[in-house]
Formats: sequence, C-alpha cells, structure tokens
Amino acid sequence: MRILLVGKGGREHALAWKMSQSELLSALYLWPGNVAMQGLGEYLDLPATADFTELVAAAKRLQIDLVVSGPEAPLSQGLADAFAAAGIPTFGPRQAAAQLEASKAFAKRIMTKAGIPTAAHVLVKGESECREEALAMLQATGGVVLKASGLAAGKGVFVCSTATEVENGIQRLFHSDMSAASDTVVLEEVLLGRECSYFSFIGSHGPLGLGFAVDYKRLEDGDVGPNTGGMGCYAPVPWLPKEAATLVNERVIAPLLQALKAEGIYYCGCLYVGLMWSETKGPQVVEFNVRLGDPEAQVLALYDERDWLALMAASCGLNVPEAALAAACRPPSSDRYSVAVVMAASSYPYGSDAGQAAVLPPQMFSNDVQTNIMTFGANVSRGERDGFATGSGRVLAVSARGSSFAAARVAAYNRVHEIAGLWRSARWRSDIGSRVVKETKELER
Ligand code: AMP
Ligand code: GLY
Repeated sequence: MRILLVGKGGREHALAWKMSQSELLSALYLWPGNVAMQGLGEYLDLPATADFTELVAAAKRLQIDLVVSGPEAPLSQGLADAFAAAGIPTFGPRQAAAQLEASKAFAKRIMTKAGIPTAAHVLVKGESECREEALAMLQATGGVVLKASGLAAGKGVFVCSTATEVENGIQRLFHSDMSAASDTVVLEEVLLGRECSYFSFIGSHGPLGLGFAVDYKRLEDGDVGPNTGGMGCYAPVPWLPKEAATLVNERVIAPLLQALKAEGIYYCGCLYVGLMWSETKGPQVVEFNVRLGDPEAQVLALYDERDWLALMAASCGLNVPEAALAAACRPPSSDRYSVAVVMAASSYPYGSDAGQAAVLPPQMFSNDVQTNIMTFGANVSRGERDGFATGSGRVLAVSARGSSFAAARVAAYNRVHEIAGLWRSARWRSDIGSRVVKETKELER
C-alpha cells in the first residue's frame, strides 16, 4: 500500500514509525513531516505551504492508495473532501464530520440530539454576554467551564471556580490570538470524575477500538496551571471498569454515528472521545476530536503492537488480506504498559519563543522498530553535526514501554533527564504516571 501521511508533529512521527512496521506498507510519503521522521519514509517534494490542489496532484502522480491525516486543521478545511473528489480515500473525516472538533457548538448540538451523556451547556456570543452568563452559572453551581467554540490547540478552555478565574479566561478568549475561535463561546457545568480518552477507528468496517489513555492537560505537576495540548500520557487505564469500552461504544459512539447519519454525515477516521469517568454515572463526554491525540498517539503506538495500517485501511474500505486484518483486530497484549513525557520550550503554552535551544545528538532519535523507548520529535529542526535543534512549543514526547507502569515510567524519565542535561531550559512534568504506579502497586498487595 502506498501511503501519504499529512502532518509534522510528534503524533505523526508516531504514526510514521507505527506504519513503517506494517507488512502492508510498500511506500510511505511524508508531507511535510519533520526531521525526526528521517528513514521512515520519503519527504514529499512539496513545500509545507502547498494547497490541496497541489497535494492531490502529487498524490495522483505517486499513485497513493490512502492518505492518513494526523492533525485536525486540514480535515476541517476539507482535505478528505479534496482527495475524495480525486478518488483517493483518506483516513480522517470529511469537513462536515470534522466539525465535531472544529465547532464545539456543533458537537454539543449533536450530543444533545443523540442523548449522549455530557455537561449541560449554553452558547454565548460576545464578551459581555459571556461574562454575565458565566458569573450567573458560577454563582448557581460554584463552577463554570469557558470554551472557545473554534479550534484553539487545546488552549481555549478555562475551568473556573472563582470570579477572577472567569475574568482571566474572558481576557484570553476575547483579547488574545484565540479571539477568532471565540466568536461563539460554550459555557458548561463542571463535570466531576476522572479524565481519560478513548480512541476508535471508525469507517466501513465498524468501530475498531484502539483503547483508552490518560493525558495530563495541565502545565504543572499536581494538575495545576493552564490547560495545554497535553504534557504526558499513559496507557492502558487500569482504574476503569472492565466493561468501559462497551459502555463507550453503546452510550457514545453508536448514538453519535446514528445522529450523524441522520444528517447525511458519514465518519471515517480516528474518533477521539474525551471523557470524564464518573463512578456513579459512567462515561460523560468532555469533547470529541477527529484524530489521534498528541501525546496519546505516542503512548499508544508503543503500547499497542497491532497493525494500525491494516485497521485504517479496513476502515476506509480498502482490501486488506483477511489474516492481516484478523491479527490486527485481536485485543492488544495485556502485559504492556506505556508512559510518555512531553518536553516543551520554557515559554509553552503562551509564547512562540524557543528559549535557550539545544542541539540533541541524532542517536537519541533512533527509529529502531525493536526499541522499548522512543523520542518522538515535533518541533525539531536540523542542527549542527546532524543533531536535532529544539524549537518552540511542545518539542518532544519521550515514550517508553515496560512490563509494568513503574518500569515504563523509570525508562521514560531516565531518557528525559539525559535530554535535560543537554537542553537545560526544557520544561516537563515530573509526575506523569506516578499515581497509576502507586495504584497498581496497591492493587497487587
Ligand atoms: P477540551 O478541550 O474540551 O477537552 O477541554 C480541555 C480540558 O478542560 C479537558 O481535558 C478537561 O480537563 C477540562 N474540561 C473541559 N470541559 C470540562 C467540564 N465540563 N468539566 C470539567 N473539566 C472540563
Ligand atoms: N492530548 C490532547 C489532544 O491531543 O487533544
């Protein structure tokens, strides 16, 4: 199978690494890719600024069988529609379905219509209506969540329990670079429970569940500080009930697909269900995303040994040999645990300043298939002596697997400390996976 992978972050590095292990792969093209993916595929000879027409022409020339989109932005701009018009399938939904992520207002409407458990909400427009309604909800319930309806890279959400927090959120929503995403703001009740995400490949084959992961959204240890795109992650999620995947399929995914279908919308791609898991109420949906998570993809790629390319191709209706699909559909081994720690520039999540950049040696970025530890690169560029220069934002995700969470965690942090010895201004959380390590030890006792 000839694949074109769209995207340039750590998630796409993980996808490229994973797909490179598939027996179904005959050629992998990366657009635009990043330097850490070297050796996994061929960089497409097209600038990162190319438009869909140029991209489709290149894909036709290269006889691409399947396009895989890592990020949501091109999907919400119609990438899959452009390829469909040229007869090339995309793993990633068309524009109409990508609204599930691009418009929180749309997602809330569909959830309400489908009876999917989620936080009660109101939609508001403009700063003064937002302030008035948010303060009223705060007073009535003791908490309120403010969300930009549009795409804001995970940074447009403010969970508030005081009037000062509401005001700070409003200032960021209406007076910063995310004001375009805040044309409509969703105000929600605060959900209680434990957060996790479920990933499923959806399409003509029916849902193919990848599993659950836990992401750490807040910037600092102890879950404080602003929301980020994700500072670390672990998988699987041992504290969920055994029937968790069945509950999500029954209460969320099946009614969602039915409600979309009733509006003439078909879904093909990875569905990311962000959940608050309540002991009494079970799964409640916080958000939908139309892609894999970042850094969840980096953790799942190590944890899950199955052939994702077989699953993606089957979801898109491509011909996958029966034996390959049957093997890919088996549940993942139950004796593997993964932990990923994100390393970011010191200015993250506010600035685009790379801080004191470092050049890391290329051997830290080995794309070895047999390895139990991977340094997935996002904002890295070519540095001196074939090294990798660190950039801004989230730069790396160090992902390790082991036969226990404790082993995976030690391996990941050993590598993080090795990198931090060279990149002194890096920022990371030191508590990724610590609670789940303690919990699993308690269970063993
Ligand atoms: P979102 O982008 O909608 O996933 O929100 C980012 C983060 O804010 C989530 O991962 C949660 O940690 C938190 N959050 C969002 N909505 C709620 C809610 N209704 N109740 C509690 N926390 C929330
Ligand atoms: N890690 C959260 C996300 O990818 O949206």
